[in-house]
Amino acid sequence: MCEPGEQVLSDVHVDVPISSKLSNEGKATTRFHFRVPVKCSDRVDRSSLSASALMTGDHNLKFEQPSSVKDLTSITEATLDEDGDLVVLRKDRRREVVVIEHAMATTINEVGLQVWQGCLLLCDFMLSNQEIFRGQVALELGAGVGLGSIVVATMASTVFCTDIGLDVLKLCQRNVTNNCEFSLDKDPQEDQDVKVRELDWFQFSNTTMTNCSSVFQWGEEDKVLLQEVTVIIAADVIYDDKLTDGFFNTLHHLMTTGKEKIAFIAIEKRLNFTVDDLKVTCKAYDHFLKHITRLVSSPAVKVKYLAEQLPTDFMECSQYTRTKQMELWEIRAVRSGLHPD
Ligand SMILES: C[S@@+](CC[C@H](N)C(=O)[O-])C[C@H]1O[C@@H](n2cnc3c(N)ncnc32)[C@H](O)[C@@H]1O
Repeated sequence: MCEPGEQVLSDVHVDVPISSKLSNEGKATTRFHFRVPVKCSDRVDRSSLSASALMTGDHNLKFEQPSSVKDLTSITEATLDEDGDLVVLRKDRRREVVVIEHAMATTINEVGLQVWQGCLLLCDFMLSNQEIFRGQVALELGAGVGLGSIVVATMASTVFCTDIGLDVLKLCQRNVTNNCEFSLDKDPQEDQDVKVRELDWFQFSNTTMTNCSSVFQWGEEDKVLLQEVTVIIAADVIYDDKLTDGFFNTLHHLMTTGKEKIAFIAIEKRLNFTVDDLKVTCKAYDHFLKHITRLVSSPAVKVKYLAEQLPTDFMECSQYTRTKQMELWEIRAVRSGLHPD
C-alpha cells in the first residue's frame, strides 16, 4: 500500500519510450504502435464467444479476416514521422499508432492519468479476438486515459468509456478525440462512437447518473443504449480492496441489467514481501479471487456467473514484456435457463 502523497510510476515506459514533445497541456505523449494480427484468432472457443452468440446458438462463427486486415497486404508507401518512427501508409490511410497524452508519475489517487500494462494486455487480446467485439456495444470501467476504449472502438459499434474525476475524464476525452482516425475496418470518415462518461463504482445508480453535473453526464439516450451493452472491459483496476469491492458491485449491477454480458478483466499481480506474512504475497489479487469465488458460488438468482482465467498466449501486438503476473479473466453472466453445460 502506498503512503499518502507517494508517487507511483507505471512500468509501461520501460518498453515504450515517451515522445520528446510535451502536449499543449504540458503532459507527456506516447506513441503506442499496434501490429494487427493478419488473421483473427482461431483459438477462440465456445466459452469465450460473446453472450449473444451463445444465446443464438451460433457457436461456429467464422473468423473472417476483416477488410482492413486484408488491406494490410496493400501497403503503398512508408515514411518517417517527426519523431523518426516508421509510418506505414496504406491505400486507406488507416493508422496503427495511437498517440496518448498522459501524466508520468502520479499519486495513487491519480493513477488514471497514466497508462498501465494491463491495458496493453487487454488491447492485445481484443485485437487478437476481434470477432467477440465486432458490432457490440461495449463499456470500459476505470478507462483512465482511454487507450482500451480507443482500441475496442475500432470493432465495437459504440463504447462507453467510463471513469471518475474531471481531470481524468477531460484527458481521456482529448485522447479519444485525437485518435478518432485510429480505425481498423471502419470507414475512416465514420466517427468513432466513444462516449466518455462519469461512472463512479461507489455511486452507480440511475439517480446518480442523472444528477451528475459535468459534461460527462449520462443523457437519456445513453441510458437507453446502456441496456444494449454486451461486453464490459477493464484493465488494471484491482489494486485496492475497497475499490475492488466497489468495482464488483458495479459489475454485478451492470451484468444483471439489460442484455446478457461478458466481461474481460486484465490484471497485473504486484507481488510484495511483507514482514507480517514473512512471504511474498499479493493481497489485492487474493481479494480479487475472493470476489470471483463468491460470484461463481452464489445461487443463480438473476444470473449464473461463470469465470475463468484465459490463456495469455495470443499475439503481442504492442510493446511490453508480458509476464505471468499479467492475467486476463473472463466473467460471464448467463441468464437462468441458458446455462451452458
Ligand atoms: C491503475 S488505473 C488503470 C487505468 C487504465 N484502465 C489503464 O489500464 O491504463 C485505475 C483506474 O480506475 C479508476 N478508478 C478508481 N476508483 C474509481 C471509482 N470509484 N470509480 C470509477 N473508476 C475508478 C481510476 O481513476 C483509474 O483510471
